[in-house]
Amino acid sequence: MSRAFRCRRHGKDTNGRDLVKRPKIPFALALIIADAILVTLIIAYVPYTKIVWDAYMSQVSGFLGGEREYGSLKGDTGPLVYPAGFLYVYSAIQNLTGGQVFPAQRSCLYKDECTLVCFAFVASPTKVTAALVQVSLYYLLQIPIILQLLTASPIYIAGFGFGYDENQNQAAIAHQSTALLPHKERPCRQPRKRGMDRITMFLLAATLAAVRCGCDANYTRNDFPHDFAFGSGTSAYQWEGAYDEDGKKPSVWDTYVHSRNLDNGDITCDGYHKYKEDVQLMVETGLDAFRFSISWSRLIPNGRGPVNPKGLQFYKNFIHELVSHGIEPHVTLYHYDHPQSLEDEYGGWLNCRIIKDFTAYADVCFREFGNHVKLWTTINEANIFTIGGYDGGGTPPGRCSTCSSGNSSTEPYLVAHNLLLAHASASRLYKQKYKDTQGGSVGFSIFAIGFRPSTNSNDDELAIQRFKDFFYAWMLGPLTYGDYPDGMKRIIGTRLPVFSEEESELVKGSSDFVGVIHYLAASVSDAQSKPFLPGDSKFFADMGVLLTYVGNFTAFEYEIAPWAMEGVLEYIKQSYGNPPVYILENGKPMKQDLQLQHEDTPRIEFVHAYMGAVLKAVRNGSDTRGYFVWSFMDLYELLSGYEYSFGIYSVNFSDPHRKRSPKLSAHWYSAFLKGNTTFLDSQDIMSNLSSSATSL
Ligand SMILES: *[C@@H]1O[C@H](CO)[C@@H](O)[C@H](O)[C@H]1NC(C)=O
Ligand SMILES: *[C@@H]1O[C@H](CO)[C@@H](O)[C@H](O)[C@H]1NC(C)=O
Ligand SMILES: *[C@@H]1O[C@H](CO)[C@@H](O)[C@H](O)[C@H]1NC(C)=O
Ligand SMILES: *[C@@H]1O[C@H](CO)[C@@H](O)[C@H](O)[C@H]1NC(C)=O
Ligand SMILES: *[C@@H]1O[C@H](CO)[C@@H](O)[C@H](O)[C@H]1NC(C)=O
Ligand SMILES: *[C@@H]1O[C@H](CO)[C@@H](O)[C@H](O)[C@H]1NC(C)=O
Ligand SMILES: *[C@@H]1O[C@H](CO)[C@@H](O)[C@H](O)[C@H]1NC(C)=O
Ligand SMILES: *[C@@H]1O[C@H](CO)[C@@H](O)[C@H](O)[C@H]1NC(C)=O
Repeated sequence: MSRAFRCRRHGKDTNGRDLVKRPKIPFALALIIADAILVTLIIAYVPYTKIVWDAYMSQVSGFLGGEREYGSLKGDTGPLVYPAGFLYVYSAIQNLTGGQVFPAQRSCLYKDECTLVCFAFVASPTKVTAALVQVSLYYLLQIPIILQLLTASPIYIAGFGFGYDENQNQAAIAHQSTALLPHKERPCRQPRKRGMDRITMFLLAATLAAVRCGCDANYTRNDFPHDFAFGSGTSAYQWEGAYDEDGKKPSVWDTYVHSRNLDNGDITCDGYHKYKEDVQLMVETGLDAFRFSISWSRLIPNGRGPVNPKGLQFYKNFIHELVSHGIEPHVTLYHYDHPQSLEDEYGGWLNCRIIKDFTAYADVCFREFGNHVKLWTTINEANIFTIGGYDGGGTPPGRCSTCSSGNSSTEPYLVAHNLLLAHASASRLYKQKYKDTQGGSVGFSIFAIGFRPSTNSNDDELAIQRFKDFFYAWMLGPLTYGDYPDGMKRIIGTRLPVFSEEESELVKGSSDFVGVIHYLAASVSDAQSKPFLPGDSKFFADMGVLLTYVGNFTAFEYEIAPWAMEGVLEYIKQSYGNPPVYILENGKPMKQDLQLQHEDTPRIEFVHAYMGAVLKAVRNGSDTRGYFVWSFMDLYELLSGYEYSFGIYSVNFSDPHRKRSPKLSAHWYSAFLKGNTTFLDSQDIMSNLSSSATSL
């Protein structure tokens, strides 16, 4: 073995020590052979019907076709892009086997060090054929790696493992060939010992891989796809303040809280003036991405017509600050705050004239910010905005049958219709005018309540179906299939607007991703025969279900129910063609108390459990691509003002400077993002984090 590790001179490092090119072929071949023997043994001794393959394809692609061309595969279930080389190999395998081949999951030991592309292979029914196919595939994949060994940069082949696929309730084999490409040549020290290190590493990785495949193991950031984005967020009204400064005019939200004398966002976090400081905190936390919204009435104060130059400059500055610090902006165009002038002039979202004005507003945003912004959400939690603002009336613009104006039996459906059309119109504009040059995506977001039937009675099963129709398919149905669900049409009849053929085409496929806002889980029971009383929600009466929230909703005690998040992602995957998903909000409210909030361990537990649920869904094929903790800092909350807050940073709202300080959750999230984690139940880690709480 030792001869394999002779050092070849390659240069000197800065300390004048020799650098080597990594010794390669015999050792790598030995590993490959050992690996192959193991594969064969496992195939011989483990019962299975499904074989899962993982291959680190940076090698394959490097050899076969460079890394520039990307494509996707038919039946793709994950957020994967494939280098051209991989697509070639994939096609060859498919032709060779005639079998059903589909991508599975991926993970990577070290971010930036390797690219992993994986696929799963459903083996032919008999064990012998399956084994033969597996072994041939194995060597087929090794060929380019071996060739690359002979010609190009050094690699390790380090890992191997197998596990049990619980979902299929069948034994499965997972195979991992881990190829680690060092960033730089490393100094040669003790070649012989390094050989031993590699063997140790190989065995260790083999063991780890085996453990990782067991479903009980918990997670670190590296278990997520390498381009999965972690972030946090705020929204314009909730964070900016400066509600009447530099030309901004009121939105319906300003009017709503002022006219009712409620807590307001006049100053709130004063983000308008403190954005640079906040970006600094984002950098220290290690966020990949930041989600915020643009205030329509700051950018175009009258809703249409001239752009406010100071508003424009603010968003340009803010976006520049984010981008220049490597933080990806994720922009929401509409977050409950359309200009009051449009409400006064023609009734805002009740009037289809808003579609044109919204599209023109979106046009300004795409044109002015689109060079840096690649992820756009048109409408924030469209379903709950509609229900809150036009059925219950508890959120702006505050309309309902028992309010001073409104009609709960018709307006929610009309508003939703206009929201969908406005979204679709902006999305079409983006595709026609900007997509080619800017290359971004435009999505739509919904408030996604987790659900399970109260009992397994037939009535509750039917109630679940109605719940899905009214809460999800109401919006996702038109966006995916071009129309409202039949169940809804049947119940609502003529009160539900109808898409013309042209509108249906416009809406269908207009959302590049689904933005999921998830906090709550509920047991769903049938309430169709419940008498409808004045003041009841007409929307819920139409739906005919009763939701019993898990936890105490009125007290903002959200119970940790990760099954709900996983269920929502599974449902979206299975029912709407597995669209790309971003979790745009998820987090835990706690009562505002600066002292207590700094020890927000329950928030960490919550976020940890929900991110784990996201990971599980991703592993099972959900195309979820990002997770944004709500909220980056304590801010004005729509339903609770300043009484409850979700921030991972606190803000002292009595302090004229609105001083921000990290809570424990900010430290925890930061450690997670930087790769140092953390099984939550270790009190040690928590107390160590607290003791370092001043260092951020
Ligand atoms: C696989 O078959 C398809 C269709 O016959 C063909 O277009 C493709 O080039 C083949 N792939 C390879 C790698 O031979
Ligand atoms: C709401 O609209 C419906 C249908 O136009 C109408 O029948 C009903 O009387 C209206 N209700 C209220 C409270 O205005
Ligand atoms: C929920 O919390 C509120 C306020 O703290 C309390 O009055 C109510 O009894 C609680 N409900 C339940 C079911 O615990
Ligand atoms: C992490 O561990 C908890 C507690 O054992 C478990 O419920 C959860 O499913 C695990 N998460 C993942 C992603 O495996
Ligand atoms: C995993 O995905 C498959 C296919 O979509 C589905 O049938 C299965 O129920 C999912 N498993 C879980 C645990 O959700
Ligand atoms: C918040 O700011 C006020 C005013 O500056 C100060 O008196 C108070 O001590 C601060 N509270 C905390 C918890 O730091
Ligand atoms: C991660 O761990 C390393 C080594 O213990 C330490 O130097 C670093 O500060 C930690 N980073 C974070 C964000 O805690
Ligand atoms: C916590 O800190 C103590 C002392 O600094 C150290 O001995 C211990 O290993 C740390 N625990 C963890 C889990 O990092």
